[in-house]
Amino acid sequence: SGPVKRTLESYYTTIEDFPAEGILFRDITSVLGDADGFKLAIDEMLKAIEGEAIDVIIGIEARGFMFAPVLAYELGKPFVPVRKAGKLPRETVSATCTLEYGEATIEMHADAFPPGSKVLIVDDLIATGGTAKATAQMVEELGGVVSSFLFVSELTYLNGRDLLEGYKVHSLVTF
Ligand code: PRP
Ligand code: HPA
Repeated sequence: SGPVKRTLESYYTTIEDFPAEGILFRDITSVLGDADGFKLAIDEMLKAIEGEAIDVIIGIEARGFMFAPVLAYELGKPFVPVRKAGKLPRETVSATCTLEYGEATIEMHADAFPPGSKVLIVDDLIATGGTAKATAQMVEELGGVVSSFLFVSELTYLNGRDLLEGYKVHSLVTF
């Protein structure tokens, strides 16, 4: 025997009625706020993509930034940020995400990686899939190939996976 092994899911906290009435919010900060929880998340993420050919790792602002750079460091690959519009200083490509409520525009530097690069797209969570799909569109506009998507968690009742049909999608925890 030894210490009891906790599941990654057990490090999440659930907040009722945040940010709006009727929403059960799955909070990633309690995973990161526990050293064992964060290590488990990173270890499981690395395991999920074991053996995949990856040249570049994209993280999506803001919560994707908590994970993608750690993976990039571990794998010795470059990290590329996808940001909300107006934040990146050089020439950008952009895409519009259709979200649960309304729209948002995200951007990536146009010289982020060379054409033909195999790209891993990382975020903390997939909900409707709109943000992930828009990111794939930018990757492909620059001649990149999406190797896979990697999410720590997935809200299955929003069917985000359907929007990413034809792509490989990894998620570690489903709600
Ligand atoms: C959340 C989450 C994903 C996105 C998922 O980010 O971290 O990026 O929404 O939603 P979707 O699958 O419906 O597109 P949010 O836009 O709240 O921004 P933040 O990370 O800056 O908090
Ligand atoms: N948790 C965290 N982020 C989210 C959620 C959630 O339940 N829904 C949409 N974005």
